[in-house]
Amino acid sequence: MAKSENEKKQAPKSRMYKNRVALPDDVKEKNVVVMNERLAASLDMYSQAKFAHWNVKGINFYQLHLVFDATAKVIFKQIDPIAERITQLGGVANGTVRQSALSSPIPAYNTTAVTGPEHLNALADALGVYCKELREASDEIDDLGDEPTADFFKQLVVEAEEELYFLESHLEAGDVQ
Ligand SMILES: [Fe+2]
Repeated sequence: MAKSENEKKQAPKSRMYKNRVALPDDVKEKNVVVMNERLAASLDMYSQAKFAHWNVKGINFYQLHLVFDATAKVIFKQIDPIAERITQLGGVANGTVRQSALSSPIPAYNTTAVTGPEHLNALADALGVYCKELREASDEIDDLGDEPTADFFKQLVVEAEEELYFLESHLEAGDVQ
């Protein structure tokens, strides 16, 4: 298959399906755009946490290996509900790895990281952006008038920010603002 044909197949799909969800069609469509960006973020974030889990080295290897996997597990559990909230509103969940790589708002992981502090900083930076993206999604969807979906994203924020706290706690020993 020609590359351009393959790329066309991977392009984000924006078609909408009719359903009985009691929101105006344009609101559903806008929600789906907001949520697809965060679906991409969740898949990207999950793979970054796994990268840290697999590749960290040093004296604290085993503890951090477990911490990073715990983060990955929390993020992994968010992927499916985000994707299915998109399809519940009539959208297409653009969640292949290739689609996610094209549209994720999370910066690329620092793949030169080796030590514990390097991976902690790289992952905390990414997770901070992920948490911000979830907060913004909740606010944007609230502004669109879909309170249940905005509340759904608020819950994701609380879960993700708990993981951010676990990572940052390793970096702030003794530091007081
Ligand atoms: Fe593992």
